[in-house]
Amino acid sequence: MTSQAGRGAGATRREARRWEGKSADALCARWRRPELWLYSRIDSTNERAKELGAEGSPAGTLVLADEQTAGRGRAGHRWYSPKGDGLYFSLLLGLRDLHNPGLVPIFGGLGAARALRRLLPEVSVGLKWPNDLLLNGRKCGGVLAEAAWDGAQMRYMVLGVGLNVHNKIRDFPRELREVAASVDAVAGRKVSRLDLMDTLIPELDALLAEPLDTLDRDDLRDLDAYDWLRGKRCTVKEPGHDRGVTGVAVGIAPDGALLFRPDTGPLRRVLAAHVTLPELPLPEY
Ligand code: BTN
Repeated sequence: MTSQAGRGAGATRREARRWEGKSADALCARWRRPELWLYSRIDSTNERAKELGAEGSPAGTLVLADEQTAGRGRAGHRWYSPKGDGLYFSLLLGLRDLHNPGLVPIFGGLGAARALRRLLPEVSVGLKWPNDLLLNGRKCGGVLAEAAWDGAQMRYMVLGVGLNVHNKIRDFPRELREVAASVDAVAGRKVSRLDLMDTLIPELDALLAEPLDTLDRDDLRDLDAYDWLRGKRCTVKEPGHDRGVTGVAVGIAPDGALLFRPDTGPLRRVLAAHVTLPELPLPEY
């Protein structure tokens, strides 16, 4: 295993030798990474992980930053990533793992939800399909899977995870204050970022080691338990459609699709969409 203090990309990338008091080498060994890249500041850990994939870094490589200046959320949104407050990391996945790339964000969310459940048994953990992590009904994090292509051929994928940990609600941008939260704010105590990573990494490794083509019985059982949308009225807006369709979310299929019963018409399998609930106006970071 090797660890690297981050370098490159001018002013937006600053190397770090330590994170939460631990050296890069110690963290690399602790989390059993083939490579660990540590930054005190970076544009986006997903961007860096994609570069590392192109440079030939092995699957399992981890990029971790204390702050992101251009953190990316789903659908081109920005991910609020202030210094020292959150977890911002990306894992490089190998081609071997990519039988069904659409499932990667679902596996990522499930792994993160299991880790949060383990560490915060007193808190209600939820997943809002496809990629929102909720604690007591408020958005605390999300996952973003991105692929790198060589023409029509997918070369590799990165799985990015962002989690608000120490943020104070008053410090969030105004538009997020009503809907976002942090782990500390929900738990009512200071939760260690190191403990969170110690729990998240093995949960993600366990899931990402499986053949990623279908969700097994245990995965589906846990997804059902975390599924925040299940049984709720919601509006589903698929890419390329001008208007959303209202109906009820009924579950998640073994291939990761959202099962949705529109008000009119038959049950549908939805592969990509933005889902809104009247009672949960989630933030667009
Ligand atoms: C979402 O929109 O809910 C997904 C947010 C994912 C944010 C994480 S933070 C680490 C990684 N690097 C990024 O630029 N984005 C992801």
